[in-house]
Amino acid sequence: MERSEFLGASMAGLGSLILPVSHLSSLTAKHSLRFHFVTDMHLPETPPAEVYRRFIKKLKGNRVDFILNGGDSIYDALKATPESVDGQWKSYASFLNEISLPVHGCLGNHDIEKWELTGYTGSNPTEEKNRAVKEMGMPHRYYRFKRENWHFIILDSSTYVKGGYEARLDDEQFSWLRNELSKIPSNEHVLILSHIPLFSACYRHYLKDDPKGIFPKIESRLLHQDGYAITELLSRYANIRLCLSGHLHMQEKIEYKGLPYYCLGAVCGNMWKGEFNGFVPAFFTIELGGNGAVKLSRTDY
Ligand SMILES: [Fe+2]
Repeated sequence: MERSEFLGASMAGLGSLILPVSHLSSLTAKHSLRFHFVTDMHLPETPPAEVYRRFIKKLKGNRVDFILNGGDSIYDALKATPESVDGQWKSYASFLNEISLPVHGCLGNHDIEKWELTGYTGSNPTEEKNRAVKEMGMPHRYYRFKRENWHFIILDSSTYVKGGYEARLDDEQFSWLRNELSKIPSNEHVLILSHIPLFSACYRHYLKDDPKGIFPKIESRLLHQDGYAITELLSRYANIRLCLSGHLHMQEKIEYKGLPYYCLGAVCGNMWKGEFNGFVPAFFTIELGGNGAVKLSRTDY
């Protein structure tokens, strides 16, 4: 079996359901929600026509209530001048237009402007997130929304450090998260989305066997550096049902302290050039029951 099959077969295979072991009760049809989770689309100005059309066709061919976008919506703004990414954001606007469903976005590192441009001084780094927040129609760089009896908490994983970013919530956002969690009634359910994983094992394999020993230099970009504090906070809430992420372009399902942490691949695979580390381009369809149950399936194209 290829590693990419770990999270289940394609939609066509039908044998693709994944149930977190702690939530095996059946879905309550009345209040269930269905959405597609797309992450790491990395849309260039002109996406490769053939594979992009296959992706859109499968995305539209399966009815859902909305789409959750895990971030890195565009190819790359970090190293580009703001003007040069106009075409990439146009490409994202065309995607929104074509899908005509609500799309709830999450900020990815590559959606942020200037941080890796030579000579960038970092005087007000949060400002460089503003365009992405606007283009993705987000109310803020982190936020919460509610559907039925489910709360969706969308985090902003990228914190500026000289020369780029590291995976971490700033103090303001961590306080906000703690406060939001305390306000949600315990009989309602919570899904957490962060672009970069809060907890992961496969991040260690991002560079495969890493013969040049580069991994320590990029580790702070691959996994939340404040993951211990966040996972300890989350583990106090029994109504958190699922933590989703992208960023690694790999697929992984971990249960840690009773909570499922799923890193769900990349729509673009290896930047629209096939698979990445053995993981084919994919998106996921997730069904959330009114009773907190979670069902998940993967679609390849
Ligand atoms: Fe990313």
